Amino acid sequence: MRTQVIIIGGGPSGLLLGQLLHTIGVEAVVLERRTRDYVLGRIRAGVLERGTVDLLARAGADARLRKEGMPHNGTLLTSDTDSFRVDFTAHTGHSVMVYGQTEVTRDLYDARAAAGAQTLFEVDNVQIIGADTDAPQVQFDHEGTGKALQCDFIVGCDGFHGVSRLSIPQDKRRAFEKTYPFGWLGILSETPPVDDELIYANSAHGFALCSMRNANLSRYYVQCSMQDNADNWTDAAFWEALKRRLPDAIAERLVTGPSIEKSIAPLRSFVTEPMRWGRLFLCGDAAHIVPPTGAKGLNTAASDVHYLFEGLTDWYGSGDARALDSYSERALARVWKAERFSWWFSSLMHRFPGQSDFDQRMQQAELAFLRSNDAAQKAFAENYVGLPY
Ligand code: APR
Ligand code: PHB
Repeated sequence: MRTQVIIIGGGPSGLLLGQLLHTIGVEAVVLERRTRDYVLGRIRAGVLERGTVDLLARAGADARLRKEGMPHNGTLLTSDTDSFRVDFTAHTGHSVMVYGQTEVTRDLYDARAAAGAQTLFEVDNVQIIGADTDAPQVQFDHEGTGKALQCDFIVGCDGFHGVSRLSIPQDKRRAFEKTYPFGWLGILSETPPVDDELIYANSAHGFALCSMRNANLSRYYVQCSMQDNADNWTDAAFWEALKRRLPDAIAERLVTGPSIEKSIAPLRSFVTEPMRWGRLFLCGDAAHIVPPTGAKGLNTAASDVHYLFEGLTDWYGSGDARALDSYSERALARVWKAERFSWWFSSLMHRFPGQSDFDQRMQQAELAFLRSNDAAQKAFAENYVGLPY
């Protein structure tokens, strides 16, 4: 059996690339380890950069996003002594779109099904063969049968725990990693958001984030220990911890309710270089991870897809391989800027175990500078809405 592009992983990266390739008549087969429902059951972030919105429109998967997405022109940053808003639109002329990643993935699955493109679910034992040759193939088990699929290119969109990155020989790749000494305890509640925009809070009790999915579905996070367990937290304990980290005026108007989802996510920065080996390309979490503070996970996956789609369009259109050959370098240039912003924002807003008084003063001074300096706010806003591709 043969196809043009094999995409390993049916998350946002793989689905977005598959849909874009479909728009130029390039056949891609998506191999997904889980079921569609399992993939859609994952709770992920919900802030889309303008570039991501534009790519979803190009993929023909933005109808619901245009109707249900919530444009946000700014965000509130709070500390125990101060609060201020950064106006994205005033500084950049752009906003972000608040729309859950689960809904992005659902829209992409629906678009893929409508296009009649092939997605194989519950695929097992995926093995990449000959990625460093001109005849790569992927071997896998599906519905109890061993399969081998030849192709022109393999794209690893299989996330941090996938097989693609590890298929690159260890001496041909280099990893860069930072683990943060805390996690995020997140809940979903069918309650109205506490504010019209997101609120990032740096408090003596730890970080908190107030986000949302729609007018009656809120997403909240509090910083917690990496040794913590979501089962240790009653809803009441979560709400109290959240209120303690917010300014009184905001905490007083917080509408609480039962959690419909509660989980802890670790915070990690990770990049593998290069993002290509022969006919194998890596996209999204398969190549890099960011702490969720800057909402860059999905958006950086989208910029990888943008660069790779450009390369595949040229190759299939005219045989020009230059954009493919520069994919890893171009994608990584933007990945590292997203890593920097996510690391900087995480370092600014969280309380680190054993943080010295001097470190605490540095956080306060950084927040005071961000509050008072136009150029600092413009830099924040440009990173948050999304740097140009
Ligand atoms: N074979 C087939 N599929 C696999 C394999 C495998 N060996 N390993 C993993 N997968 C699938 C997973 O089941 C998942 O559906 O690959 C998909 C990877 O999706 P994501 O982990 O969501 O990664 P990506 O598509 O790059 O999206 C990045 O998702 O994790 C968030 O914060 C991240 O928002 C970012 C976005
Ligand atoms: C979310 O809505 O889940 C969310 C929003 C912004 C972030 C992280 C997560 O920075």
